[in-house]
Amino acid sequence: MFRNSIAALAAFATMSAAGALSVAAAQTDIKIDRDAPIGTIQPEVYGQFLEHLGTQVYDGIWVGEDSDIPNTDGIRNDVYGALDRLDIPVIRWPGGCYADMYHWRDGIGDERTPRVNMSWGGTPEPNGFGTHEFFNLAEKLGAKTYLNVNLGSGTITEAADWLEYITATGDSALAQERRANGRENPWKIDYLSIGNETWGCGGNMRPAYYADLYAQWATLLKVEGEMPVRIISGSHEGNIDYSDEILDHPAMGNLSDGISVHYYTLPTGDWGEKGDALDFPEEEWISTLSRTIKMDGIIEEQLAMIDSHDLGEEKLGLYVDEWGMWVDGEEGAPALNQQNTIRDAVVAALNFDIFHKYADRVPMTNIAQMVNVLQAMILTDGPEMILTPTYHVYEMYVPFQGATALPVSFDSPDYSHGGETIPALSVSAAIAENGDILISVVNADASDAHDVTLPAFGAASATVRQLTGDSMDAHNSFDDPDAVTPVQFDVPVTSGKLRMRLEPRSVSVLRIEQ
Ligand code: AHR
Repeated sequence: MFRNSIAALAAFATMSAAGALSVAAAQTDIKIDRDAPIGTIQPEVYGQFLEHLGTQVYDGIWVGEDSDIPNTDGIRNDVYGALDRLDIPVIRWPGGCYADMYHWRDGIGDERTPRVNMSWGGTPEPNGFGTHEFFNLAEKLGAKTYLNVNLGSGTITEAADWLEYITATGDSALAQERRANGRENPWKIDYLSIGNETWGCGGNMRPAYYADLYAQWATLLKVEGEMPVRIISGSHEGNIDYSDEILDHPAMGNLSDGISVHYYTLPTGDWGEKGDALDFPEEEWISTLSRTIKMDGIIEEQLAMIDSHDLGEEKLGLYVDEWGMWVDGEEGAPALNQQNTIRDAVVAALNFDIFHKYADRVPMTNIAQMVNVLQAMILTDGPEMILTPTYHVYEMYVPFQGATALPVSFDSPDYSHGGETIPALSVSAAIAENGDILISVVNADASDAHDVTLPAFGAASATVRQLTGDSMDAHNSFDDPDAVTPVQFDVPVTSGKLRMRLEPRSVSVLRIEQ
């Protein structure tokens, strides 16, 4: 069979272009309207989330200067290099639930204050990775910063001091303290969230109470220089009324730029038994994908809710600042550590297509999370590191950052299993910053290939990068780190169209040079 081999895929593309192979059913004709741009896909749509949780920060990113693992100023070189290749646009830190237990003074200076991470399993929190380490990492990666301040167990004074420590330029005591700790120039806070999941781990607050606190903090928290984009911590997908009530607060339009929503994809939809990362039945393949594409309706509903409020001329953005796969962890594994398969890659790509569709209203998303935790880009084990299928999809979609989304129309064939049916195909398109046309095509079908035709926009061929796996739970491991990696090949134009066969369980990104 043709699987993950450049030569085989190139041959396959040629044969299907010539019509010599025709295992798949009828071709799906995809139309792309170059003349009706939807809006710019903000690079921040490809944002990351770095919470102090499990082995993400300690071991995954930060090993300290004295570690035998090669590092620069305590940050692992291998992980840094891999993250750098993703052109990460923004990183959210320090949580999540952890943000509401985090006290920034524990993580500055020569003497760090060791604590216990009470949000996530009572693990040691040495605080070796703090404000300087986070902002320096973001700066080195060229990523914007998204700071989540501690509303739950902190005070407004503590938060105000933190912002001053980070951004002050003059001779205030806090600016001097920052300099004494090794950083002369201020850093920039690009995004600021006041609280996290205030309906749950952030304090179990009623929405009107949180709205008042938010308004107070947003009024009084200042930075030197440009104000960060201020984000209200909103609902999860199931309690939209929470956000609705927050936005009833009369000052919200003036005090915020957007509101967040969290939505996790659980294979079974049951928090008690979410489903396994590996070795799952096809029922859980299709139920996972069926649940993940609910993101479309969730965004639509949230935007309609936002727009039902009178919030002034500027429309508030919707920030999907936590999303991704959440499965049951293995017995004895560190908190929220999970394997990552071609299913995760398809989940990520299906969500990207949805985010592109809402490019004009969804300015940022943050996948949960970056290293070792939930739907991670990278897994580490001591000195070893592997890249996950999700990493590869993020890397394949880098050209979409800053591109202009275009409308797409087609009739997708169905993919059905066990009484459930979803569209087999998902497509999105954009004009890259250099004018090239970018098209992403996902085949969510677990077992059947599908043939598509695409507009060629005057070109003679397109370059494709495709990721697939030879089973539903194909994944990379420390023994076999390249089991799931993208392959590249060209698709020629025949009778004026690009004709392509999409492997089952595949994600493809085409570039048509202009
Ligand atoms: O991403 C893991 C956790 O999920 C976050 O800390 C919290 O905000 C959410 O419930």
